[in-house]
Amino acid sequence: MVEQHRKKLDLQLQSFALAGIDAWTPGEGDLALGLAAVRETAARHQVPVVAANLRCQGQAPFPAARVAERGGVRVGFVGLIDPALLGAGGADGCVAEPVLPALGQALAALGPVDALVVLSHQEGSADAALAPALPQGALVVNGHGGLSHDAALSVGPGMVQLAAGSRGKALGLAEITFTAGGQGFQGQASEGDQKRLARFQERLAKAREELAAGALDPTAQARAERQVAFYEREIATLQARLDAAAAAAGAARHDVAVRLLDLGKELPEHPETLALVEATKALLGKGPDGALAAADGGKIAYAGSPACQACHPAETTQWQATAHATAWKSLVDDGRHLDQACWRCHATGAFDEAGPQHPMQVGPPLQGVGCESCHGPGKDHVAAPTAANILRDPPELLCTTCHDGVQDEGRFDWERYRPMVAHRAAAPSPP
Ligand code: HEC
Ligand code: HEC
Ligand code: HEC
Ligand code: HEC
Repeated sequence: MVEQHRKKLDLQLQSFALAGIDAWTPGEGDLALGLAAVRETAARHQVPVVAANLRCQGQAPFPAARVAERGGVRVGFVGLIDPALLGAGGADGCVAEPVLPALGQALAALGPVDALVVLSHQEGSADAALAPALPQGALVVNGHGGLSHDAALSVGPGMVQLAAGSRGKALGLAEITFTAGGQGFQGQASEGDQKRLARFQERLAKAREELAAGALDPTAQARAERQVAFYEREIATLQARLDAAAAAAGAARHDVAVRLLDLGKELPEHPETLALVEATKALLGKGPDGALAAADGGKIAYAGSPACQACHPAETTQWQATAHATAWKSLVDDGRHLDQACWRCHATGAFDEAGPQHPMQVGPPLQGVGCESCHGPGKDHVAAPTAANILRDPPELLCTTCHDGVQDEGRFDWERYRPMVAHRAAAPSPP
């Protein structure tokens, strides 16, 4: 895992350098590799690092902020890391100090700029709380947790949040039109936010209902609790954003228009970067990670989909025609099946203690979203089939462990999706 992350950091910073990046702020995942590794990699690729509130053994390892001048416009960059994400006494004794005082100090030292960019490595919902330190407004680029929106969202007076998502799928492009005498930035309201808020509120209610009904087994209980926490957090973020958008209208601001460009489709491949990506993918399956034994130590309680076919041929035929059956292949086609960030939702049983814990443990029978992803581990059922040792009708909350509203970009819709996986066509409604 560490080795994989190290190779990815190298790839990431090298391609950032090729793109001529002006500033970068490490996150908790990068710092877990050790300060020396982050420092060395950034220095080797000449990537300028900014981190206003990072202290390692009491020292600031990187400048708090920097200015880059482009076509006569002075752009200031300042970096922040969420103290909660880094935790107390992280690797190398690195901690993140409270963000507001650090931000205030960094800005005082930076001097006047035409546009201020805050590289924020914190929960998206935490960005709004930066407002007191940003009276001139700012473009807050959030790089944590895969947040993605195709609008510059108002999160405070003159403050907009930009986020281009995870998985290297999109490049965010923000075009600023300066208004004479303007201060801070004017964002756009997002239609998607309103819809997503409604959908998340509905799911939260369902998860709470399930918990309130009680009598859940420990796994289902833990899952429902995780989902409640997840949706509560997402809803708070969305609500804060919608409130800020309503409050921000009116003042003279610079305009920001945002586009997310699909890196696969809307931008031609950059040959040098492509070569780097291919070389790193080839490395990912090797090294200490790849050497991990595939042996499961007898702990895996999943039989794999082929073991179900003989007794349930009709369900198997239907399943084979769904995207679930080829979910592993989707990763293989992408060269990402050994990637720690990907394999879990594209394999069978990976969310379970009795399932594979590493992509190298995913042999062909567990590749893809198999029968047991929905019906639970089936080794016992295969050995002695009864209705008691297999789950008949998977609930929505099971689906949303994978269709989590983030990785699937909020596409999941129980009413529409369930009939696509249930094996029999719905019974004709009575006349
Ligand atoms: C040796 C034959 C056999 C195999 C192999 C087998 N099943 Fe079954 N399965 C049965 C029988 C028989 C029943 C009906 C049990 C009953 O109603 O008592 C059943 C019932 C079920 C049910 C419905 C349970 C219910 O409450 O109605 C599901 C779901 C199911 N199996 C899934 C699977 C999955 C997933 C696998 C592979 C991991 C699998 N089965 C492998 C024979 C088998
Ligand atoms: C283990 C993770 C996992 C679980 C559990 C899961 N899915 Fe999926 N689902 C996926 C993945 C991954 C894909 C995309 C596969 C691909 O295209 O490679 C997918 C695709 C789908 C699609 C196809 C979407 C499309 O437009 O092509 C539907 C429909 C779907 N899932 C419904 C469900 C439902 C309903 C449940 C619960 C009963 C469920 N899924 C449970 C991971 C999961
Ligand atoms: C939290 C679970 C989860 C994780 C982690 C995850 N995926 Fe998926 N993935 C899904 C689901 C769910 C879908 C189906 C979404 C839909 O169409 O509704 C999907 C669909 C896909 C698809 C097919 C459709 C598409 O969007 O092109 C590809 C390819 C894919 N994922 C690649 C990846 C890669 C690469 C990673 C790692 C960087 C990854 N996934 C990590 C859940 C996940
Ligand atoms: C994405 C989730 C999902 C996957 C994957 C899945 N099933 Fe199911 N399965 C369901 C749902 C939902 C039902 C309940 C359907 C109903 O009652 O209308 C069901 C019902 C069943 C039943 C009960 C009888 C029936 O047909 O309704 C059997 C048996 C079964 N599945 C076997 C399998 C086997 C075998 C596989 C793999 C080849 C499989 N399932 C894969 C979701 C899934």
